Amino acid sequence: MEKVRYFDHSATTYVKYEVIKEMLPYFGISFGNPSSIYGIGRQNKRAIEKAREQVARVINADTKEIYFTGCGSESDNLAIKGIAYANKAKGNHIITSKIEHHAVIDTCKTLEKEGFRVTYLGVDREGKINLGELENSITDDTILISIMTANNEIGTIQPISEIRPNC
Ligand SMILES: Cc1ncc(COP(=O)(O)O)c(C=O)c1O
Repeated sequence: MEKVRYFDHSATTYVKYEVIKEMLPYFGISFGNPSSIYGIGRQNKRAIEKAREQVARVINADTKEIYFTGCGSESDNLAIKGIAYANKAKGNHIITSKIEHHAVIDTCKTLEKEGFRVTYLGVDREGKINLGELENSITDDTILISIMTANNEIGTIQPISEIRPNC
């Protein structure tokens, strides 16, 4: 077999064998709808709730804060619009960067049409945002700073712990 060198893990990557092993029953014998009342449905509901507890524990969150979505774009939409609409009374300003995924940029563009103000931070030649520029962009109206951890095209890792200490 030809040896493959893959340099695109920040865009998409393989699923770990342990994860595949855990998930296999749900693609096969345990296919029940978790919202249903019959046996395999209820069993799957319990599996989802167990997974929710495990994810919450790993990131030190409450289970009520964990939402499972179908893809990355849906997650971006849900998080950004959710925070924007929930905090509308506090302010209407969002900060992001010019090199976010389209799922983030397009959601911000939609929010701009609805009256939100968005600052798109520039990046240096390595794709890094400038922390000073970020700090200067924050106003009393800022309700969200949405900066990706690792860029999906060029792999730049942003200084997230400096933007949000203890993160
Ligand atoms: C930050 C971000 N959001 C969304 C996506 C798109 O994900 P999906 O194709 O699962 O919607 C990507 C893909 O690289 C991403 O990096």
